[in-house]
Amino acid sequence: MISHVTEGEPPHNCKLCPRLAVFRSANRRTYPDYFNAPVPSFGEASARLLIVGLAPGLQGANRTGRPFTGDYAGDLLYATLLKHGLARGNYDKRADDGLELVDCAITNAVRCVPPENKPLPVEINTCRQFLSTQLSAMPNLKAVLTLGRVAHDSVLSALAIPKKDHPFGHGARHDTARIALIASYHCSRYNTNTGVLTEEMFDAVVGAAKQAATD
Ligand code: URA
Repeated sequence: MISHVTEGEPPHNCKLCPRLAVFRSANRRTYPDYFNAPVPSFGEASARLLIVGLAPGLQGANRTGRPFTGDYAGDLLYATLLKHGLARGNYDKRADDGLELVDCAITNAVRCVPPENKPLPVEINTCRQFLSTQLSAMPNLKAVLTLGRVAHDSVLSALAIPKKDHPFGHGARHDTARIALIASYHCSRYNTNTGVLTEEMFDAVVGAAKQAATD
């Protein structure tokens, strides 16, 4: 069963982003067995670490209904979380595989799958209300690990922190009044295939985020 971080999730048929709602309707026709709805956060609201991705992949989270589940980015993310003790159980690319997160939660800057994996700026801005609600709903939050620039910038905006003072960079740590913000390149297949992000780099940044959450 998927545990939700907060009750402030987008509704199943959220229409705040018209383009994404049209895409969802088309996907419901093409892939009637897929989840095809805003993907809720995974993990407990009591967690000290929050990981923020970009948006559900069409054949990954949009299919399975759990962030990062069922696509390449999830293979690397969940293997790394298991290695660092931030997850327990068995990751089997299914929302009902019984995997549990340990003192961490995972969400996306945009909850609905966007065409070609590219949310528009207006969609990122519109969906931020759910990210903001989530950040407020985590009373023990100590660190946020952002996967990619979109997630990094959206978390800064959600926290009303100026971007110019906290530029995105892999491994960069920004200490804000409430939390430590750790930035990482997105763990996408594209980034690992092109050598932008190696498994070692990702391992190190997840370790740094865990450290920041437990300091
Ligand atoms: N799956 C997600 O849920 N988020 C991403 O950013 C990529 C894949």
